[in-house]
Amino acid sequence: MPESIEPFSNSLNYRIRSVLGKYNLKAEIRLSNLKAFFHYKNDVEKMLAGGKDPLIYEYYENSQPRVEGNLNFGVTIIYPGKVGKEYFLTRGHYHAKEGTAEVYYGLKGVGIMVLQTKKGESKWIQLGQGQVGYVPPFWAHRTVNTGKKKLYILFAYPSDSGHDYGTIKQKGFSKLVVEERGRPKIVDNPSFT
Ligand SMILES: [Fe+2]
Repeated sequence: MPESIEPFSNSLNYRIRSVLGKYNLKAEIRLSNLKAFFHYKNDVEKMLAGGKDPLIYEYYENSQPRVEGNLNFGVTIIYPGKVGKEYFLTRGHYHAKEGTAEVYYGLKGVGIMVLQTKKGESKWIQLGQGQVGYVPPFWAHRTVNTGKKKLYILFAYPSDSGHDYGTIKQKGFSKLVVEERGRPKIVDNPSFT
């Protein structure tokens, strides 16, 4: 039997260990790790050349053995900011095992999730404090912080689903979330292939 965790519940106090029970995976993703994922490449290069490599997002995960039936769950914290007109974002991914779904819950902050399928469908949903997002099987998903403070999102997905970041790295998302006149706007991505 693979090691499993004990049942628990905790109060939401935004301390990661309290929310997750424990975490065994942590990642910090900076601008230099996301060059291929932001649309305004000149702005990326300008920021990096100016010595700025801001933290864009981090995640903490309670990762379970990669066995059907288990769930991985965690918290993503996306920092506020923009690269050019585009808000800070996560890479976004399809699940490697494409027929697997995911649930997201906005703990704190303001955000939008963009979703798309390989058939060319696209959607966007509000995903901020108190909002629940459901990602059906076969939908790629990316979270964007459209607020002025940190965005905290809780997620849960099947432990055996895996991640496919490569397709997004290559093709991008069909929609961008940009700031226009101080407000978030969804626009077509001119370099989407
Ligand atoms: Fe996912």
